[in-house]
Amino acid sequence: MEQEYARLNMPIGETMFSQRSIRRFRSDPIPVDDLRVIMDAAVKAPSGGNRQPARFLILTDPDVIREFGALYREAWWAKRRDEKRPWTRREEIPAEDRGSTAAARLADEIKDAPCIVLALTTVKNGASSVIPSVQNLMLAARALGIGSVPTTLHAQVLERVYALLNIPPELEFHLCIPLGYPRGRFGPTQRIPAAEVTYHNRWATPAPWSVAAARA
Ligand SMILES: Cc1cc2nc3c(=O)[nH]c(=O)nc-3n(C[C@H](O)[C@H](O)[C@H](O)COP(=O)(O)O)c2cc1C
Repeated sequence: MEQEYARLNMPIGETMFSQRSIRRFRSDPIPVDDLRVIMDAAVKAPSGGNRQPARFLILTDPDVIREFGALYREAWWAKRRDEKRPWTRREEIPAEDRGSTAAARLADEIKDAPCIVLALTTVKNGASSVIPSVQNLMLAARALGIGSVPTTLHAQVLERVYALLNIPPELEFHLCIPLGYPRGRFGPTQRIPAAEVTYHNRWATPAPWSVAAARA
């Protein structure tokens, strides 16, 4: 029998180093076989005591995604209100704030995403046992040419999200990950060099390779 991961044959370095946030998607659906590989990768992640509290809800029904998208959009703007941002519409976001501009556009366009995965846990405070799964999920997706971005919701919409999707109240919501073939490209990301965020043996002792070497 073919291994379930046989199609995940992109080198892991290329997968990790070219994985960036994809927030604009083509409308093409993701084949069920690909969704299955992606979720097989997700459940291979570690969890505390191997208790595996992570649960996932995959949305592909365009009507459901449209309704969820309206709540996602409301949540995105509720978060900006909490952050005391002065904007109330996408057009008011300064063009140089490219991150917020892209995130606001996703809030408008997520209603048309071909697929959205919600990551939850059966336990409270379960983030550390679901986030490794989400990273596996996103890397597997990237290896299949499928873009993603981890996103959050806001308390203001959670009850309505649970009601819309029949999620039992005892589950804890963590992340919402739209998936789709990218409009735009995968590519390099801007990150602080590892040597600037890594110490060695004792805090504040430099990593055993130099920042200059890492930049070279
Ligand atoms: C916990 C978490 C929450 C995030 N929430 C959002 C979000 O609500 N909306 C969004 O568009 N991106 C969200 N992101 C994506 C980040 O903005 C993105 O990872 C970061 O800007 C780096 O982008 P890059 O990988 O394209 O370089 C989130 C990422 C993480 C890890």
